[in-house]
Amino acid sequence: MSELKMDLIDNENKKQKPDADKIAFGKHYSDHMFIMDYSTDKGWYDPRIVPYEPITLDPAAMIFHYGQTVFEGLKAYRTTTDKILLFRPEQNFKRLNLSSDRLSIPAIDEELALTYLKKLIEVEKDWVPQAEGNSLYIRPFIIATEPNLSLAPSETYQFMIILSPVGSYYKEGIHPVRIHVEDEYTRAVRGGTGKAKTAGNYAAAYKAQERATKEGYSQVLWLDGVEKKYIEEVGSMNVFFKINGEIVTPELNGSILEGITRMSIIELLKDWGIPITERKISLEELYEAYDQDKLEEAFGTGTAAVISPVGELNWGDRNMVINNREIGEMSKKLYDTLTGIQTGKVEDLYNWTVEV
Ligand code: COI
Repeated sequence: MSELKMDLIDNENKKQKPDADKIAFGKHYSDHMFIMDYSTDKGWYDPRIVPYEPITLDPAAMIFHYGQTVFEGLKAYRTTTDKILLFRPEQNFKRLNLSSDRLSIPAIDEELALTYLKKLIEVEKDWVPQAEGNSLYIRPFIIATEPNLSLAPSETYQFMIILSPVGSYYKEGIHPVRIHVEDEYTRAVRGGTGKAKTAGNYAAAYKAQERATKEGYSQVLWLDGVEKKYIEEVGSMNVFFKINGEIVTPELNGSILEGITRMSIIELLKDWGIPITERKISLEELYEAYDQDKLEEAFGTGTAAVISPVGELNWGDRNMVINNREIGEMSKKLYDTLTGIQTGKVEDLYNWTVEV
C-alpha cells in the first residue's frame, strides 16, 4: 500500500467549531477527511488526508443503485489531562471487514486503517470536544464507485473517514427514552444483512421510525423477522433488561448488530460477577416480568447512544413504565464506568483505550 499523502488547509481557512452546548448529532464536520481508493488491479491504493469537501461520483456509481456500502461508528474522547483516546478501534475495523465480506466488498488492512485514523485524528485534534458528554464521532465507510448498472460487485471502491463533533445522540441525553415496539415492519431476517453495518438496514427502518416519532417515541424496538416474537435490537443500539436481579440481552443470531458497546458491557458485568445471560427474550416474557413487578431496568447500548436507559416501552395498547421513568442503578453504574474509561477518569483495566 502506498505512502499516506497529506493536503492540509491553512489555519485561516479552517471552519469555526460549534459551541459545546449546541452540538447536534451528525451536523458538524471537521476540516479534513481520509480517502483511499480501490481497484481490482491495484488493490487499495493512494491513502490521503485531504480537505473535507463534497466528492464527485458518476451517476451510475453502483452505491447509488444497489447500495453496496458499509460503515462504522466510533468515538475519540479528550481526557481531563488533554490526552485523546479511542475506544477499542481495532474492533471497529474488524467489524468493518466482516460487514464488507457480507456485501462482497474487498477487505482493508485493519492495522493500517488504524494508523491512518490515528494520523487523521492527530491532524484534527482540536476538533475533539472538551466538554463532558461530547466527543468526536468517527465515521469510516466504504462505497462502491464503479459506474455500472449490471448486478455484480463493483470493481472500484472508496474508503473514507469523516469526523463529526457530537453531543448526546438522543435529545433526552442520559434521561430515559420512550421506545415503541414495531410489529408490522421487519428490520432484518436470518441470512439477510442484519448484522452487517450497511446502509439498507437503516433506510429500511425509517418507515417504522417515522410512525414512532409522530407518536412521541425516540426509537423502535425490532422483533425477529420470522416469528415476530423475540426482541432483537433498537436499530441505533442493542438492548439489555434487568429481570429479577439478572441481566439479559438477546443472543446474537445473525440479524442483530454485534455491538462493541454491547460486548464491553457484557465483559464488564462478567468481571463484576453480575449474572448476565445472552438468550432469546420474547416480548411476552418481558410483559409477564413487568406484570409480576420483576422488570427492574431496561437500557440500550451503542457508540452513538452510549448507555441509554429505557423509561417506557409501548406495544399497541400495552404500555410499560420502567423504573418510574428514572435511570436505574445498574444503567447509571455502567454509564459512569464506560464513559469513565473512555475519558480516562476510570482506570482502564481492560486495555480498551488507545491513545492517539
Ligand atoms: C453508532 O452507534 O455508531 C451507530 O452506528 C448508530 C448510528 C446509526 C447512529
